[in-house]
Amino acid sequence: MVILKSRAEIEEMRKAGRIVAAFHQAIAGMIRPGVTTLDIESFAVRFLKENGAKAYTIGYNGYPFATCASVNDVIAHGFPNQKPLKEGDIVKIDIVAEADGWIGDSAWCYAVGEVSEEARNLMRVTKECLYLGIEKAVVGNRIGDVMHAVQTHAERNGFSVVRDLLGHGVGREMHEEPNYAHVGNPGKGFRLKEGMVFTIEPMINAGKALMTVDADGWTARTADGSLSAQYEHTIAITEDGPMILTAQ
Ligand code: MF3
Ligand code: CO
Repeated sequence: MVILKSRAEIEEMRKAGRIVAAFHQAIAGMIRPGVTTLDIESFAVRFLKENGAKAYTIGYNGYPFATCASVNDVIAHGFPNQKPLKEGDIVKIDIVAEADGWIGDSAWCYAVGEVSEEARNLMRVTKECLYLGIEKAVVGNRIGDVMHAVQTHAERNGFSVVRDLLGHGVGREMHEEPNYAHVGNPGKGFRLKEGMVFTIEPMINAGKALMTVDADGWTARTADGSLSAQYEHTIAITEDGPMILTAQ
């Protein structure tokens, strides 16, 4: 069942969204060679607490951290670790905050120092995919319209869209209905209604779309070892268009 949110509820949800956005703005200046993803994790735990928010993912299906830190070929759900980030890496940091009983969810991709041209292109195109999708997230459109925009842009640039991890509704819980892949056809899929709140979070690979999961049960990687990028916003569908709750 899709839980629609009232205007007042969407207003309440903005707090969690703002905290997540502020977190990303804070770490953007912190990510450089030598920093570890556990440093970012510790900062996240402190930042959420100081802002009166809860780290939603700690203990979620046994997930042990407040952030997911996914480096290079890791698509998503990487564990923060003690390995220093190095020049040329790209790292996706995903965080889910709970504030006043509502969830905000946003992932962002960061370049560590100077990165390759391929990495820069992949990051740019993936971010463009996110915003092209958001543009289509208007009342009356279908999810296929949104995801067709995402998929077309990725594939036109020679990249591929991960199918195995899904976007999701967001509310009092992180994962609500509906769920959908970031590919689609115009006019297909569920219709967007005022009051829907969900993520758009394209995971785009430089190589093939196929994904594997490590023995830890979480770390999702590209099967071919290629780079993967992701940008994610939580958005609300309103009469006035898409509202980006996690806008930085
Ligand atoms: N934030 C992720 C998403 O975009 C989910 C985190 S997975 C967790 O769906 F289980 F590790 F928390
Ligand atoms: Co997320």
